[in-house]
Amino acid sequence: MEASAPRGNTPSKPPRKHYRVVVDSPLKIGVGLLGCGIVGSSVVRLLDDRRDEIIKRTGLDLEIVSIGVRSVARDRHLDIDPSILTSDAQSVIDNSAVDVIVEVIGGIEPARCLVLDALAAGKPVVTANKELVANHGAELFAAADAAGVDLLFEAAVAGGIPLMRPMRKSLIGESVTRVMGIVNGTTNYILTKMSLEGAGYADALSEAQRLGYAERDPTADVEGFDAGAKAAILATTAFGAHVVAGDVYHEGISTITRVDIDFADRLGYVIKLLAIAERVSSSDENSTVEVAVRVHPTMVPKDHPLASVNDSFNAVFIEGEAVGELMFYGRGAGGMVTASAVLGDLIDAASHRAAGVAGTPLGDLPRALVRPIDDIASAFYIHLEVIDRPGVLATVASIFGDHGVSIRSMEQEGLGDQARIVFITHAGLERDVQSTLSMLRDLDSVRSVLSVLRVIGDDEV
Ligand SMILES: NC(=O)c1ccc[n+]([C@@H]2O[C@H](COP(=O)([O-])OP(=O)(O)OC[C@H]3O[C@@H](n4cnc5c(N)ncnc54)[C@H](OP(=O)(O)O)[C@@H]3O)[C@@H](O)[C@H]2O)c1
Repeated sequence: MEASAPRGNTPSKPPRKHYRVVVDSPLKIGVGLLGCGIVGSSVVRLLDDRRDEIIKRTGLDLEIVSIGVRSVARDRHLDIDPSILTSDAQSVIDNSAVDVIVEVIGGIEPARCLVLDALAAGKPVVTANKELVANHGAELFAAADAAGVDLLFEAAVAGGIPLMRPMRKSLIGESVTRVMGIVNGTTNYILTKMSLEGAGYADALSEAQRLGYAERDPTADVEGFDAGAKAAILATTAFGAHVVAGDVYHEGISTITRVDIDFADRLGYVIKLLAIAERVSSSDENSTVEVAVRVHPTMVPKDHPLASVNDSFNAVFIEGEAVGELMFYGRGAGGMVTASAVLGDLIDAASHRAAGVAGTPLGDLPRALVRPIDDIASAFYIHLEVIDRPGVLATVASIFGDHGVSIRSMEQEGLGDQARIVFITHAGLERDVQSTLSMLRDLDSVRSVLSVLRVIGDDEV
């Protein structure tokens, strides 16, 4: 039973104030949308759906007052006044009824110039454009800081997963040591099809294209460019030093075969395309932050949380000194999924504007020192096709030893033309492993180096 309130002369508590969440006269915030394709049209629909609830919760009435597109004539199946569509994107920024800009055009130009113009005009910008943030982040964040307004980009990495805000705000006092992410849904879908359904790479890619997960030209996804841009943004956000897309070493999944998938399975791993960003060192004296950032197919132990992230799902695994391990999981792409992240940013930017403040500045971050791939240590899976004759194994093993690459496990299988050896190494420097491989390729007894993959797990550095 609850204790009854004391009686008598005890001074009574002052009446509790009730703040009304519902604001009788909501503050109108005019939104200018640049782009109305997959993401933009979903932002229109989601905002239409959530507008009243947002007013109730925040007192802000977000209204899309102008939309810049390439073709005004295109039927967009949206419940909007057609007169707010324009093919003059600059007019969206110049419109005095527009308080906040959402850029969902994609690509570098004209998006970059439009975002810079919006910031210079003192209008906060929300963008989903990873290419723009990963390549021109430093310039754009400096412009946002100079104007004292927000530039928010939650949707640029891992679509609908709240990730940038937790990293920029909740983890701001944390010393993050490593971020590993499955940040490309297309490649994760293909690898999952290969692992769980026995599909070959070409069939899995065709299926991804049929379902709309992969573009007709899948290069940006399957060769790791898209994940590389996201890795740069993750590294910048996690370590507080600018990394650009061009800094990121990347390999794709187009050379992964069913044989690799099956070997990985037998050895207790699954293959995932990982974006890995590590803080290698930092010095307080000159505030240099050294990072290693890369994207490549990776053998992930089956009991690692990232191993069970399947289909087109994304996940980001963060390790911090105080917080330990965290994982963020969800859908990384899709109109509504991405619109959800855009809308969160939009409400943040609008509230900041209403309060006359801007969020966490990113403009004066130093440039990160990026460690070249040759100087990064990893454990490796190396699959060789060899000639089946006595002494081959000893010769191959001695080449590993000569380069200081130590072997953790080895499996030999098949006979004659089918003879193969699979090695898992202890962590070794990339340059040493590459020198080993180049000598192995020259050996008469090695018919071919079928596959080389990096491995995470117990023995990584
Ligand atoms: N789709 C996703 O699942 C997803 C997920 C995360 C992040 N993103 C990012 O979100 C952004 C938008 O992607 P999306 O898939 O929505 O692209 P999209 O469907 O191709 O839409 C692009 C929009 O921009 C408009 N546009 C193109 N050039 C323009 C110009 N010069 N001036 C004005 N408008 C122009 C197009 O107009 P028209 O309609 O007239 O052609 C279209 O409405 C990209 O940066 C993308 O990387 C997308």
